[in-house]
Amino acid sequence: MVDDIRIAVDQDLHLVTDDYGDLSSDTTSVRSSLYRGLIEHGRRYQALKPDEYCFPADETQFETYDAVHLVAVIADADQENQFFRSPVIPKNVLDIGTGKGTWAIDVADFCPEAMVRGIDLFPPPNTWVPPNCVLEVDDILLPWTFTEKFDLVHLRILACAFSPEETDQLMKQIYDDLEPGGWVEQMEIHPTIYCDDKSVPADNILFDIGPRFDAAAGKSGKPMDIMNTMRASIEKAGFVDVHERNFKWPIGPWPKDRTLKELGTVNLSHWLTGMEGYTMFLMTKFGDPEPWTENEVHVYNSQIRKELLNPRHHVYQLSKRVWARKPPNDTRSNQLEK
Ligand SMILES: C[S@@+](CC[C@H](N)C(=O)[O-])C[C@H]1O[C@@H](n2cnc3c(N)ncnc32)[C@H](O)[C@@H]1O
Repeated sequence: MVDDIRIAVDQDLHLVTDDYGDLSSDTTSVRSSLYRGLIEHGRRYQALKPDEYCFPADETQFETYDAVHLVAVIADADQENQFFRSPVIPKNVLDIGTGKGTWAIDVADFCPEAMVRGIDLFPPPNTWVPPNCVLEVDDILLPWTFTEKFDLVHLRILACAFSPEETDQLMKQIYDDLEPGGWVEQMEIHPTIYCDDKSVPADNILFDIGPRFDAAAGKSGKPMDIMNTMRASIEKAGFVDVHERNFKWPIGPWPKDRTLKELGTVNLSHWLTGMEGYTMFLMTKFGDPEPWTENEVHVYNSQIRKELLNPRHHVYQLSKRVWARKPPNDTRSNQLEK
């Protein structure tokens, strides 16, 4: 349980507030309109399913995803394999909602015997991928036409991407397209901010973020809080041998422990680069009580940034990894109707 984990504070941290100081792909031939995407409030969004996904697909957002990837890797620094916990040497891997494709590329390098396929609505911006990695543009909710079964299907940070019904459909599809004994693994975070030592006053705006995201995502019909529901979704689809690991991800370099300090420093960068992208679509369309203006979103984010940059604030967010497998003896085909 994360409640048992107490992050010790680095009391010697120097207390300053200003210390932090066109795309192509050689694996796909994608219509240029997909690369151009849709521009709104200065951010680019995917154009495959207009208005269907709330976070941008542009350079700033990809920088944010790279920061999250690095945080997840640091969080598992004690593991030989920092990319997945499923006990499998995979041959055929699928990464759903691959974003920039960094996880898929790293896993292809880490598992040279595996073929790793990353799928996303927006063409990933990588000009080079390892020969055993393919990044493709597709809507994962459409009927799957893969010719081979997978032995590992990975999902990470798909909050606000799917309705509960779509999640059920997707988990069932994953179950069907896994080999018997194959593994599904999901890692999620939630933006609610916690503080264990009262270094942040209870009325601080930082504590507004989580409920505000949940409310806006709730209105959109695609929940933010899948970190706390993904285990049940995985179990509901029929997976067994379910494991989970919970993490506290500090935000800022305040922890004393070197690994957590590094994690917190990169996570702060994740928040600083990511806040605008995470909030702009959601709040201007589903903000409370009325949709916000672009300017209101900027003002909110600048207040959040100021508080996050206060090194006296010892704050963190939660993250969870769940992995489970399809029963090895389930060889029946229970395909969804396609
Ligand atoms: C928050 S990003 C996470 C990216 C990546 N998994 C990571 O951890 O860095 C979620 C990604 O899911 C993609 N996505 C959302 N709905 C999708 C769908 N129906 N089919 C394919 N990809 C989808 C989005 O385009 C976005 O790139």
